[in-house]
Amino acid sequence: MFTSIAPRYDLLNHALSFNVDRLWWGRTARSFRHILSRPGARILDLCCGTGDMTFALRREAGKCSPQILGADFAHAMLQRAWAKSAGRSGSSPYWIEADALKLPFPDASFDLVTSAFGFRNLANYDAGLREIGRVLRAAGECGILDFGEPRGAMGAAYRFYFKKVLPRVGAFISGVRGPYAYLPASVERFPEPEQMLSRMKATAFTEASWIPYTFGIAGLYRGKK
Ligand SMILES: C[S@@+](CC[C@H](N)C(=O)[O-])C[C@H]1O[C@@H](n2cnc3c(N)ncnc32)[C@H](O)[C@@H]1O
Repeated sequence: MFTSIAPRYDLLNHALSFNVDRLWWGRTARSFRHILSRPGARILDLCCGTGDMTFALRREAGKCSPQILGADFAHAMLQRAWAKSAGRSGSSPYWIEADALKLPFPDASFDLVTSAFGFRNLANYDAGLREIGRVLRAAGECGILDFGEPRGAMGAAYRFYFKKVLPRVGAFISGVRGPYAYLPASVERFPEPEQMLSRMKATAFTEASWIPYTFGIAGLYRGKK
């Protein structure tokens, strides 16, 4: 499914979110400045797609030079990430083809694991959290940025846009119907914040919190191992 939308993924992402996605990636990266500026830090951006979250981490690191890896299991997405990194200054992230549920890294390999709009797609959320916990070092942190469902009047407007408008525009521009109909369904399937926080604490994290972004349309889950 992700391979089929890779050619138009960036265009659709920015258009359908009115470019707010850029603010969300930047805000998430800023939340982890204390790790990005640590000498020798190792960072993994899971489900990196075409790499925009990974690049936001790279930008936030500035002159510091943590090792940043982007991992995804869709080859076509990674090809685009790689092509985008060729045109950028500064040290490029490493791109790795891997399944988030079976990462090819030893235990305790990273200081930070992030995932933007990818975790929600995993077939097994608890297995995904355990795998993130496994590759994190002691006191390592994770940041999972994903969609939520805002409540109240904003929620009604958002649901109309997300369920009626977005799938049609997405299908029209990408030329494939399935993925943009799947998007609202996958957000409905994703646990509510309270449930997600309990799962984080039950699987791998001693501390867990959620910060809503833009009325809760998205939000950042933070966990500390
Ligand atoms: C909606 S895209 C998000 C991409 C990027 N992080 C962003 O913010 O634009 C979700 C990505 O998750 C990847 N993905 C889904 N399940 C995965 C898994 N089990 N292992 C690795 N990547 C996965 C897909 O291939 C896709 O590129």
